[in-house]
Amino acid sequence: MTDRQAQTVRLADYRPPNYLIDHVDLTFELAARGTRVESSLTVRRNGSHDESLWLDGDELTLESIELDGKPLAAEQVEERDNGLSISGLPDRCTLTMVCRVDPVDNTKLDGLYQSSGNFCTQCEPEGFRRITFFPDRPDVLSRYRVTLIADKASCPVLLSNGNPVESRDLEDGRHLAVWDDPHPKPSYLFALVAGDLKSIHDQFTTASGRTIDLGIYVEPHNIDRCDHAMRSLIKSMAWDEETYGREYDLDVFNIVAVDDFNMGAMENKGLNIFNSKFILARSETATDHDYEGIESVVAHEYFHNWSGNRVTCRDWFQLSLKEGFTVFRDQEFSADMGSRAVKRIEEVNLLRQVQFPEDAGPQAHPVQPKEYEQINNFYTATVYNKGAEVVRMWHNLLGWETFRRGTDRYFERFDGQAVTIEDFIDTMAEQADFDTAQFRRWYDRAGTPIVHVKKRIEGNDLVVDFRQEIPAVAGQEDDAPFLIPLGIAAFDRDGKPVSLSGPDRNGEPQTTLVLSKTEESRRFTLPAGAGLPVLSLNRGFTAPVKVEHDYDATDLALLAGSDTDEFNRWDAYQRLVLLTLVERIHQAEEQGDWPESGLPEGLSAAFGRLLHSAVSTQGGADPRFVAECLTLPSENYIAEQFHQDVPVDAIHRARVELREQLANEWSQTLVLAFEKLAVDGEYRFDGVDVGRRALRAQVLGYLNALDHPAWRRLAVEQLEEADNMTERFNALTALSLRASDERDQALEAFAEEWKDDPLVMDKWLALRARMVEPDDAETLAALEAHPAFSIRNPNRVRALVGTFSRGNPVAFHASTGSGYRWVADKIIEIDGFNPQIAARMATVFSRWRRYDGGRADRMRGELERMLDRRDCSTDLAEIAGKALK
Ligand code: ARG
Ligand code: ZN
Repeated sequence: MTDRQAQTVRLADYRPPNYLIDHVDLTFELAARGTRVESSLTVRRNGSHDESLWLDGDELTLESIELDGKPLAAEQVEERDNGLSISGLPDRCTLTMVCRVDPVDNTKLDGLYQSSGNFCTQCEPEGFRRITFFPDRPDVLSRYRVTLIADKASCPVLLSNGNPVESRDLEDGRHLAVWDDPHPKPSYLFALVAGDLKSIHDQFTTASGRTIDLGIYVEPHNIDRCDHAMRSLIKSMAWDEETYGREYDLDVFNIVAVDDFNMGAMENKGLNIFNSKFILARSETATDHDYEGIESVVAHEYFHNWSGNRVTCRDWFQLSLKEGFTVFRDQEFSADMGSRAVKRIEEVNLLRQVQFPEDAGPQAHPVQPKEYEQINNFYTATVYNKGAEVVRMWHNLLGWETFRRGTDRYFERFDGQAVTIEDFIDTMAEQADFDTAQFRRWYDRAGTPIVHVKKRIEGNDLVVDFRQEIPAVAGQEDDAPFLIPLGIAAFDRDGKPVSLSGPDRNGEPQTTLVLSKTEESRRFTLPAGAGLPVLSLNRGFTAPVKVEHDYDATDLALLAGSDTDEFNRWDAYQRLVLLTLVERIHQAEEQGDWPESGLPEGLSAAFGRLLHSAVSTQGGADPRFVAECLTLPSENYIAEQFHQDVPVDAIHRARVELREQLANEWSQTLVLAFEKLAVDGEYRFDGVDVGRRALRAQVLGYLNALDHPAWRRLAVEQLEEADNMTERFNALTALSLRASDERDQALEAFAEEWKDDPLVMDKWLALRARMVEPDDAETLAALEAHPAFSIRNPNRVRALVGTFSRGNPVAFHASTGSGYRWVADKIIEIDGFNPQIAARMATVFSRWRRYDGGRADRMRGELERMLDRRDCSTDLAEIAGKALK
């Protein structure tokens, strides 16, 4: 088997640090090989004990270590392969060490590494131990002073956390900069950047009148792509003051964009480091979607300054304390900047397509995990996005003002401390008048609760029965009920709201029930003569649950047209589509061949109504919202409706067929919409134009689902004439739906035009990955060998390997196993130099048990192949091992 020793870390084993480090002084002499790191730590015994001090260290060369200026006695230091143990220390002392590291060889992109020749760092969660020996745990908070020394010609820019205090030239062509961060912070928030970068600058004046210097640093050729990120930063700073009363607390705030980055971005104190994908944008190269991603990630990292940095996590089991809360904060920021309903739809899509599957499979874990082998594997949709939903429930249950009182109290009480999810809950619970003990289950119990809803008439009353089903997942089997806030409303057959519990303040019949028992009924008095109404459930997605209710197509069409909750109007339409697709697939299975089925009347009418509403001149619907509605559920989400033997090919076929039928039926209206929605003038990133472009993209996609040269012509024209990447790439995507000469020429021309722009080529790689036919080994090999691809760069890997395995189910799940094999080969190769990325890619194999025998065997076989290697990383071993358990 393997050399690795899987070590489980448990929340229950948490012990406070036995030594604290109050001050850290670091001096870096930067070099691609043999960077010299001198660190001086003021050590203070925590409590009274005579245990030794543990310093984590990973791939470091220790050159010297001194205690209060004198060499340490050899018997006091024990060097192990993951750190140093130092015994016999006085209550207070200063430890000084010199280490060497080789940034140029750091392929894990964790710790101090190089990206495009520039030095940068990533320390969360455990990267600092790859820079110097240190108690690398978030509950050790220290003040840092950092001196950077580097060659001035190749590294004119020297950045670290906090405020700049000194900079000067040295005699040997090198220069030096000193940074001082007055705020105590855990080591995971340390950062440095040194390189040949250009920057843009602006200023922000805080509510209390302090002026903050803002800088965004990028490689010189990207200097014209920073404005949108700067605007986003300024908006975030203003929003956090207005909304949460949080002001920035240093004199400078810097952002650096790097091309090689494992994740999205990192909130290092005063020096956020970003994946360039979430900074760089100009209209010719970035899409509306990119602009939105940048705005929300810039906000997310900025908001961490309070939710994460000023108040940080005691240990990594508390990760959602900062991530769930900060995601909730960035979601609300984005909702305020754009369309609230559309933002909510996107959030729920992600939850349903990524988090629900994770929560139902072998990697399922609670929002507060109780154990891990590799903490890097826990930066998940559950910790981030389900965590955000749980914070949202606090917000909804308490109401904004009370919630805000709670967050004020939380920031005030825990400022400068490393705390726990319990601390957050306790602070919020002080404000609450509901059972917070039961609410706590959301943090502790994995799995998505299912709420079964039944309705009936009793005399004049409507009786609604609720039953909670708590699925057994990943070793958690108890089925005690959750506290579930469930938004609900009712509509009569004409689509008019029916008053359920008396109109609330808005005169709307909506109410939020707080369910708390396994089975319970609610009784509502109906107006005289009212029939059994149609229920609108979990409105606005008040709880991260699955709702089961025997809606029929008529109910759903009615809700899709008349629900007063926009989110639920979208949801009803999506359910209607799913109902149609699933029925077809079942029919095909029963008949043994593909059924001849016409387009269902109700669905067709709903589609037409939506489309018309977006182009009607008066009181028209928001095109962006209509675009969300018309987006067919992804094949992966359709697959979620099947619990075993996922009919991969039938899902694809049913979806393609329905798209064609809708396009055929409504082609006239689609063409009309395409013309009417045209956006004139210069590119602008604003709600109106973004909405029109989004719907126009859907429309063009439907038209190009048909094999018709005129519709291809529309796409080709848009591709050639548009001056912005959004419209150009939308056109290319529409063309990609069917084989044609136009398509092949367009793809080739696009690749030629953008060959020197990696972020644009990522879009092209992803599009190509979606188009690969089952068992087409040749195309996969060609893409892999394409100059735009590099297996060393995480963005390229996500674009090609990630999209092929997650966005092209038919080819990934080819029954021969060729897709699985290709992806597993890549994962094994990547595991050799970047285990974090390998482990992340491998989660796509987790739910192999849901597939038919042949596929399941092959997926399992690949997991075994990944695992049964002497040098399999602990990262990948945890994912593959859990999947196979
Ligand atoms: N804290 C960062 C964020 O959410 C993510 C850093 C994750 N890093 C990692 N190596 N897993 O903004
Ligand atoms: Zn975060």
